[in-house]
Amino acid sequence: MSPESRTDVTSPRVLVVCGSPRKDGNSDLLAERIAAKIERTSLDAEIVRLRELDYSSCVGCESCRDDGECSRFTDGMTPVYETVRKARGLVLISPVHNYNVSAWIKAFIDRLYCFYEFEYPRPGSWSSRLSGQNRKAVVIAVAEQPDLDDAGFALEAMRKPLEALGYEVVDEVLVLTVFDKGAVSKRPDVLSATDDAAATLARETAH
Ligand SMILES: Cc1cc2nc3c(=O)[nH]c(=O)nc-3n(C[C@H](O)[C@H](O)[C@H](O)COP(=O)(O)O)c2cc1C
Repeated sequence: MSPESRTDVTSPRVLVVCGSPRKDGNSDLLAERIAAKIERTSLDAEIVRLRELDYSSCVGCESCRDDGECSRFTDGMTPVYETVRKARGLVLISPVHNYNVSAWIKAFIDRLYCFYEFEYPRPGSWSSRLSGQNRKAVVIAVAEQPDLDDAGFALEAMRKPLEALGYEVVDEVLVLTVFDKGAVSKRPDVLSATDDAAATLARETAH
């Protein structure tokens, strides 16, 4: 099957990508909660914990221009590409690290570069092989500090690339004032916002 035709195959299924290096931390708990909520609907969900994958960031070799897929690396991201293609729904959850997403989430997003097609000469117009397929996404960022400013641009750093790839971001959740492992469990406001985001994604992804 060519990469182009594979990209056309989407199913009502949600991929939850967790970008925290902390096992059983707050992002992990939210990933599990959102996946469980989605699975209670007609959709199935799969969690990918990026810290468990051995993968490189994109090195900008541009081999994907000729090959239509990342041919530079065979690593932890390789099987994830197929899941990304198939899942109509995507959730990105990142702790806020230095006003931004974690390095794991940044590397994951950069590796999605192989889904782009560029017109030559460059810079010219470009498109995404994930676009036009009714793909929906939710982005969630978890920060320790109470001020909005201390969360920096973590949400935007996930939303903008997902929109460029062809996802409609249907909800976003910014969690502030959370540090200890498990702290989100004691925050009904956070749990409620996460449940709402999961419900919206399930609804939007089902049709
Ligand atoms: C390297 C690093 C950088 C961080 N930078 C920020 C920051 O800029 N703003 C903030 O509010 N919290 C920051 N934090 C705190 C984390 O966002 C916070 O502990 C969060 O709960 C971690 O989520 P987790 O439990 O899912 O790993 C930082 C933590 C680390 C380890």
